[in-house]
Amino acid sequence: MTASKHLIALLKSHIARDDDQFLSIAMQMAAHEARKGHGQVAQQLRALVDQARSGKVERARRPVPIAQPKGDLAALVSVTFSETRLASMALTNELEQRLKRVLIEQRQQHKLVERGLQPRRKLLLVGPPGSGKTMTAGALAGELHLPLFTVLFDTLITRFMGETASKLRIIFDAMSETRGVYFFDEFDAIGSRRSERNDVGEIRRVLNSFLQFLEKDDSDSLIIAATNHVELLDPALFRRFDDVIQYEFPDQDVTLKILQSRLVGFDAKTVDWTRTVELSAGLSQAEISRAAEEAAKRAILADRLSITNDDLSSSLKERRSAAHR
Ligand SMILES: Nc1ncnc2c1ncn2[C@@H]1O[C@H](COP(=O)(O)OP(=O)(O)OP(=O)(O)O)[C@@H](O)[C@H]1O
Ligand SMILES: [Mg+2]
Repeated sequence: MTASKHLIALLKSHIARDDDQFLSIAMQMAAHEARKGHGQVAQQLRALVDQARSGKVERARRPVPIAQPKGDLAALVSVTFSETRLASMALTNELEQRLKRVLIEQRQQHKLVERGLQPRRKLLLVGPPGSGKTMTAGALAGELHLPLFTVLFDTLITRFMGETASKLRIIFDAMSETRGVYFFDEFDAIGSRRSERNDVGEIRRVLNSFLQFLEKDDSDSLIIAATNHVELLDPALFRRFDDVIQYEFPDQDVTLKILQSRLVGFDAKTVDWTRTVELSAGLSQAEISRAAEEAAKRAILADRLSITNDDLSSSLKERRSAAHR
């Protein structure tokens, strides 16, 4: 790859705020320089990448200055500051438009609120494992520069209903105090059908109280729930959300976008993309992205800057057999 292509790839990853991608391209540039016999430049690049990587770890370890949950809340949510952007997700047109609409309504909420209208902020994400639901919560938080509070179900749901309800109250109170994205991942834990026969009633009551809180909530936080099992969810839930967003396994366009964006720093002239996309059929976004990373590793460890059909087909086959095990 030429210097200008590297530069374009660097800029793209910068725009997408994808630090990992940025640094991995810089590493490839170091390898490229080394092969051209520019040992000093290569070493300098590597040292800078190492420095950036350790700095990143340092930053992540440091206590977050604001919005660090305190007291009872601390055991119920974990907080992160996401740097993911929508641009680093490969999305169908429809899904992209739906997520952009949430961002537009959030960013221009003053216009809506002035006229007595509410921006969308209660979202239910439904779809199979690895299709990008958790990544979406991170991307929305990252785009809006809001802290991402992930609810920890293990501590939320206890054997005692009264206790669980008061814990839910703590979380919903926090939504009004600290604007953020509040993420109920694997929501089926509380979202199961209220009328299930052998339900001892506990889950049902937890769900009822969640529904009441959700309905009453008039904070300006985003509430995002995600689940793989839409069939387990009570129909009453759907009405309480402003948007129910469906996730699917990737179509061919999305597959190609994921593969190419993961391999952007490599020379892929000899890759037969049509065939590679065919080999990816039936795999989730997560598995495809993993396979592309594995292919990149193969190339790097073989001191190559080019990706071959074989790199891709081997790692896709590996993913496929792992997925079907
Ligand atoms: N649309 C996408 N574009 C690019 N990469 C994606 C996309 N969706 C998922 N991925 C990749 O797959 C990984 C896993 O996705 P994610 O955790 O969001 O799936 P999920 O739908 O939350 O799955 P689960 O139901 O198992 O929680 C992401 O970290 C990312 O690397
Ligand atoms: Mg998830």
